[in-house]
Amino acid sequence: MNIGLIGSGGREHALCQKIYESRLSKRIYCLPGNVGTSKIAQNINVDILNFKGILKIINFFDIKLVIVGPEEPLVKGLVDFLIKNKVKVFGPNKFASKLEGSKAFMKRLCIANNIPTANFKVCKDSSTVEKFLKKSKFPLVVKADGLAAGKGVTICKTRKSVLKVSKEIFKGKFKTSRKLVLEEFLDGEEASYFLIVDKNSYKFFGTAQDHKKVGENDRGPNTGGMGAYSPAPVINPEVERKIISKIVEPTIKAFKKKNNYYSGFLYVGLMIKNNEPYLIEYNVRMGDPECQVILPRLKTDFVKLLINAVNNKLNKTLISWRKEKSMTIVLCSKGYPGKYKKNIEINNIKKIKTKKNDFVYHAGTKLEGRKVVSNGGRVLNITSIGNSYYNIRKRIISIIKRLNWKGGFFRKDIGWKVIR
Ligand code: AMP
Ligand code: GLY
Repeated sequence: MNIGLIGSGGREHALCQKIYESRLSKRIYCLPGNVGTSKIAQNINVDILNFKGILKIINFFDIKLVIVGPEEPLVKGLVDFLIKNKVKVFGPNKFASKLEGSKAFMKRLCIANNIPTANFKVCKDSSTVEKFLKKSKFPLVVKADGLAAGKGVTICKTRKSVLKVSKEIFKGKFKTSRKLVLEEFLDGEEASYFLIVDKNSYKFFGTAQDHKKVGENDRGPNTGGMGAYSPAPVINPEVERKIISKIVEPTIKAFKKKNNYYSGFLYVGLMIKNNEPYLIEYNVRMGDPECQVILPRLKTDFVKLLINAVNNKLNKTLISWRKEKSMTIVLCSKGYPGKYKKNIEINNIKKIKTKKNDFVYHAGTKLEGRKVVSNGGRVLNITSIGNSYYNIRKRIISIIKRLNWKGGFFRKDIGWKVIR
């Protein structure tokens, strides 16, 4: 069947690669895709929030199944729009997407269903912030309520900085909402747990650990993610049982109680302390770069899995995984996450011949004539699979060295928690 994929990052290149490998896919259309997807699919340039434009493309190219990669179209209701227009689509509806689209919604759902999470207060004005400050210890975490492209969370060490960040949010710094969530700081080890969900059931879809800080030893400002690995050993069988019983089950049930349902990928962002999981955030999609380490380990035909999910037959589906580990390192433009230059040629990319267990996923790239040039902060994701994290990292770094891209930098310490 013809398949449509919405998005243009490294995550979407990884999704596209798996769709391409499936015996069930005929033509693949990426809306809008990137240089990587253009080699295995047809890219069509369209704004991912132009729902009517997307529908026209779907009908014109006889697309039978659509997969939505990023959060923004999900939160704005693309799935509801496509379902109303009789298109089969994989991803959560607008109501369910509030799990990511509104921190206040997600936290209230936690309270109502006894899901372990940091203590918090939803604030709409400074006097509520002041009240919460009176009874809290530092650091405190200030979170803009709506989508903020990964920039909405600030960890504040002082009362002054809480008040400053809050004021900016109330003034409308993040256009989607003027509310905020103020919450206590959780310490522990961060990890992510993934699920694929339909109306009737859900299945495990991997674990991973991301590296959000730009600098080595986890220093410097937050980024969209500098690298990741899968599986995450901190999620041991005991922690996994708790994640399911204390967090996932109550969430799925909560949607049913509201006569709604969750379907699509579910990204459970966790802090784990003394073998106890606390929910930090929900995302209603695969992670980026977590997707680039989880999908290469998937053995089951990906399109078959998606078809079973949209037909609510996941309970009859067996998902199998490769036993090996996987890691990705993100090659970024110098200056990211601050200001960086674009349009810098990546001249050796054509010379890189990867082997079966290596993958070069494109994220922020574009074609200028026949040249591949950078077009974003996170430019390429180099993934490799193997038996030891130490050897995988060595192999990835050797590929990056062969690329020898003068415009970029990367973290050499990805996986430090699992490589002694
Ligand atoms: P979020 O957008 O909610 O995932 O937050 C982004 C990042 O901020 C997380 O990945 C954590 O590293 C950090 N963070 C968020 N909430 C907390 C918290 N309550 N305690 C400690 N760190 C947090
Ligand atoms: N890597 C973090 C995210 O996808 O939200």
